[in-house]
Amino acid sequence: QATLKEAAASRGLRVGNAMAHAPDRFGNAAYRALTARQCGVIVCENETKWQALQPRPGAYDFAAADAMFAWAGREGLQRRGHTLVWQPGKWLPAWIESHDFGARPAAGAERLLATHIRTVTEHFGRDVYSWDVVNEAVDPADGALRANAFTRRLGAIDQIDLCFRLARTHAPHAQLVYNDYMRGDAGSAKHRAGVLKLLEALKAKGTPVDAVGLQSHIGSWDDVRDGKDAGREWRRFLDAVTGMGYRLLITEFDVNDRELPGDIARRDAGVAALAKDYLDLTLSYPQVTDFVMWGMADHVSWLRTWDEAPRKDGLTMRGTPYDEALRPKPLFDAILAAL
Ligand code: XIL
Repeated sequence: QATLKEAAASRGLRVGNAMAHAPDRFGNAAYRALTARQCGVIVCENETKWQALQPRPGAYDFAAADAMFAWAGREGLQRRGHTLVWQPGKWLPAWIESHDFGARPAAGAERLLATHIRTVTEHFGRDVYSWDVVNEAVDPADGALRANAFTRRLGAIDQIDLCFRLARTHAPHAQLVYNDYMRGDAGSAKHRAGVLKLLEALKAKGTPVDAVGLQSHIGSWDDVRDGKDAGREWRRFLDAVTGMGYRLLITEFDVNDRELPGDIARRDAGVAALAKDYLDLTLSYPQVTDFVMWGMADHVSWLRTWDEAPRKDGLTMRGTPYDEALRPKPLFDAILAAL
């Protein structure tokens, strides 16, 4: 059977998987082999986030990311970086919130950002072809820019602009991406409007943003089948983003099945149908260059442990292309067909 990588190559698309430094993922030879067979790209699920790389001020730890990226290099996989800065406070290490930025806090905040972005991008150098520079800066509740220790000292938009400029300076070879979800069961219209407003402001400032990462944690609440509002709205969003000249990447694909029936055959078919509709629409944009899955087997998926919205019936989620035994499910065929 054809692999996802082969299917995607025929239309010039990269396929990737998010790998985590855990015994059942990077530590599992069968899962590693599956990733290398099906994909041409890996991204670290958590190991290149700020709290992993600089857990304490000035103390960097690249061990986990280096191990995964070295393996990727040996297997001929390309590497994406996720993410230099994540806006909401809870995804930056707590020490930043209470950090003493000195007598001139704006200069102090700029220095801290510059040191982190320079140290991380220079550490990985040309190994990383594409960086998520800023992740989830827009609040889905109202479309406003979220606040954190940096935005309070520098201003929200100036801080985002600065992150991209620093990334361009220190990783001039890399594609620079703004990554966000824009979809979901609450506030999506406001979220999309907020992201468009941000992208327009960055365009006006000349900020070096090359592409927009569409996380694509999809679910039954945003069924995009023809004739449905969700589809029309998603097209409108993608038209606006590509109209501004940005490229697109699908950066974190999986399917949340919490509103689909418990019965496994019906659920797997429903997951596959949602994926096919979403991918047919989104991949019809030639600006999409990458399709990255956020885990490829159900037992390693973050959906299983993500406690904000579990299934009401207590069953575990089945939102990735392979089951626990690494057997392909209908979702695999749906993705293969869509690529
Ligand atoms: C998730 C990881 O998958 C989890 O292991 C971790 O506990 C929390 O973060 N959007 C993103 C990703 O940009 O970084 C998130 O990853 C999933 C949602």
